[in-house]
Amino acid sequence: MSNLINFKIDGISVEAKRGETILTVARKNEIYIPTMCYISKTSPCASCRMCVVEAKGIDGFVLSCNTPPTEGIEITTNTPALELERTNIMKLYDVNHPLECGVCDKSGECDLQNKTLEFGVSRQNFSARDQFRETKDWGLIGYEASLCILCEKCVHVCNEVIGDDAIEVKFGGYSSVIIPKNSEVLDCTFCGECIAVCPVGALVSSNFKYSANAWELSRVPATCAHCSGGCPLEYETRHTSINGDDSIYRVKNNFEFTSLCGAGRFGFDFDNKNVSDKEAFLRAKEALMSAKAIRFSSMITNEEAHILNLLKQKLGLKLFNEDARKYQEFMHSYSSLSSKLHHSGSLDAIKQADAAIVIGTKIATDNPAVRYALTTAARHNGAKIVYAHPIEDALMQNTITQLMKYEVGTEEGVMALLANAILADADLSESERGFFNDLDLGYLGAESNIGEEELEFMMKSFARAKNRVLIVGDDIISHKRSKNIAKLAAIIEKYSTFSLVVVPNEVNTLGVSLICKLDIDEDIDRVVGYNAKADFTISSLEEADFYVPALNQQEGTFVSIDNRVLPTNVALSYAGYTLNDLASACGVKARETIDYTAELSKSAGFKTIEFDELENFLSKDGDDNRGYILDEVVCEAKAELEEIEDLPEFNGTIIYHSNPVLQFNAYTNKTKQLERDTTLRGSAQFAAAAKISDGDKIEITFNSKTLQREFKLDSELKGTIALNPTFDGVLDSSRYRFEKTKIVRVV
Ligand code: SF4
Ligand code: SF4
Ligand code: SF4
Ligand code: FES
Repeated sequence: MSNLINFKIDGISVEAKRGETILTVARKNEIYIPTMCYISKTSPCASCRMCVVEAKGIDGFVLSCNTPPTEGIEITTNTPALELERTNIMKLYDVNHPLECGVCDKSGECDLQNKTLEFGVSRQNFSARDQFRETKDWGLIGYEASLCILCEKCVHVCNEVIGDDAIEVKFGGYSSVIIPKNSEVLDCTFCGECIAVCPVGALVSSNFKYSANAWELSRVPATCAHCSGGCPLEYETRHTSINGDDSIYRVKNNFEFTSLCGAGRFGFDFDNKNVSDKEAFLRAKEALMSAKAIRFSSMITNEEAHILNLLKQKLGLKLFNEDARKYQEFMHSYSSLSSKLHHSGSLDAIKQADAAIVIGTKIATDNPAVRYALTTAARHNGAKIVYAHPIEDALMQNTITQLMKYEVGTEEGVMALLANAILADADLSESERGFFNDLDLGYLGAESNIGEEELEFMMKSFARAKNRVLIVGDDIISHKRSKNIAKLAAIIEKYSTFSLVVVPNEVNTLGVSLICKLDIDEDIDRVVGYNAKADFTISSLEEADFYVPALNQQEGTFVSIDNRVLPTNVALSYAGYTLNDLASACGVKARETIDYTAELSKSAGFKTIEFDELENFLSKDGDDNRGYILDEVVCEAKAELEEIEDLPEFNGTIIYHSNPVLQFNAYTNKTKQLERDTTLRGSAQFAAAAKISDGDKIEITFNSKTLQREFKLDSELKGTIALNPTFDGVLDSSRYRFEKTKIVRVV
């Protein structure tokens, strides 16, 4: 059976792929059909009826947004009858819609305003009894029920893309409203995507409300600087007063095709307002010239990473960045077996997957972009998703189909069991088959707590899947046996239909790992910190010896989880010195930082494209035309799998270093709107075992480190492992995330 359907729209011959709707095909062929409730990234809401068309031989109107064409059908999109139908729909929308356009946040970019003008609704012959509909304050989000047109876009996006499923329609004719699901107040991950998709001013950002008009704001296209998801966004800026500096007023996204989490949307004010003077510049130069090492974080651009690498060569110093070094080590080991430098998967591969395994990451908070891609796969493709982790995550419960709860520390064994199940019929080399034949499956199953039935269930549920993805996270990358686990991931990717995504921990971990020659961090003197603490600290954060701009004050590139080199631009200007100024003073010269963009290493897959030549847009069909994808690089592959070591046991009180929703690092910690929960969060079972109660001040000791925190009982957590945040900078985040601890109540 052909996969293509031939039919006509307005007399033009067009083709539809099976599964496409009349509206999608019309849009592809630039034929306009008005809509009010349609969003490309969800299933049709089908609530507005604006998209009606006529189909030859069919009585009445057809909804183009949820109707697939049939072979040979003739569709008409514009007739007097359709015009009248749509105009009447607009009149019904306008009945009692308050005339608040003068103060409404949406004015100037409101779909209702636009279509009221488009259909010339200048008078009204319908009427309805005025209703009192309450305004709600849901923290970061405000809901003005009287403005709501019940299009249901917010409900669909929350359920089908984000996965929270936190809101629903309370039906009641003209008194229908949007309400939090199963709760009095909105209790969700506050991504703000419902605000983005709302066509009118019903859902708004509480912070932005009444602060500016849409037409006063300048838009700066950029890449989110909080995690490696590389989400495209626009910083909307305006001067704060007649003589004031520019400020970011809000962040927006192309919600038809992309989504943001709340950190990207609400955590935009992390710019550095501190500027260093000439004396500080000379001290910073002196510190660099006499340094033995630079310790730095991955919250930098590729160009900055390149400058640090040049400084290493020029000044003969070491470069410390444990986060990127561990990622580098993992990927080198992966390459030594896969013969490829870069992992094969991407966020798009996840969205299109019908089967996925997520292992070694609390993905909903580690990388929301991956979570949303998994939600899309689950809702739209019915993907079977296995979530392998020692801790259940309530945020993933609507999305996953199987929880594989393994024992802390046994990741190498779990990966071997997964590989053994997936590659049972694969055409492996003799030595590779020998490795699997030699596995002590009984021991691995018993120690990791992964039963044979669980693996069988997984394989059965994956039986028909065509597009499979293996997603591995930081617990694997920072594991002491990460090199062998990387080879196991590589062999799965090599001999099965699984693509692989190795989730980078920070915004540019991947870029830094490709650009910098890194050394193992040591406790030596004369270390200069770059966005990291050291003897002399150069930073875009507070408490630095020398200040530099933050990532929303710089242009440059990052490498995202998709292996995509993404440009970002200056949202707010910075009047001080940059790393490039300092490097130039130390003999590493370029005119501008972005002069290095075209010089990034070809052997790592970078292309010779000048920064200003990089594309930065999404096509009208949502294709990502930002930057470029790294070239694949073929590596020598002669490594073999190593024998699995005895699996470690983690007994006693265990904590897991994991941030709360919307917090990632010191930059999100600095922003005004994002909540800062620095408590240790644990279940009632954990509290009983550790002999602590909700609200207790506690002291946590692990290795040689002691922390004081408050304990918070979290009813959504289960089991005996508590969650310790790292965004407040009390720990480096590159360690193995499970830790044996001693916890005492502080009295
Ligand atoms: S903020 Fe996000 S999670 Fe919360 S209701 Fe809106 S779409 Fe759903
Ligand atoms: S709040 Fe906005 S997006 Fe949600 S139903 Fe109302 S108008 Fe539509
Ligand atoms: S998912 Fe990551 S990249 Fe996307 S908006 Fe959130 S923090 Fe930013
Ligand atoms: S776009 Fe089809 S019903 Fe709204």
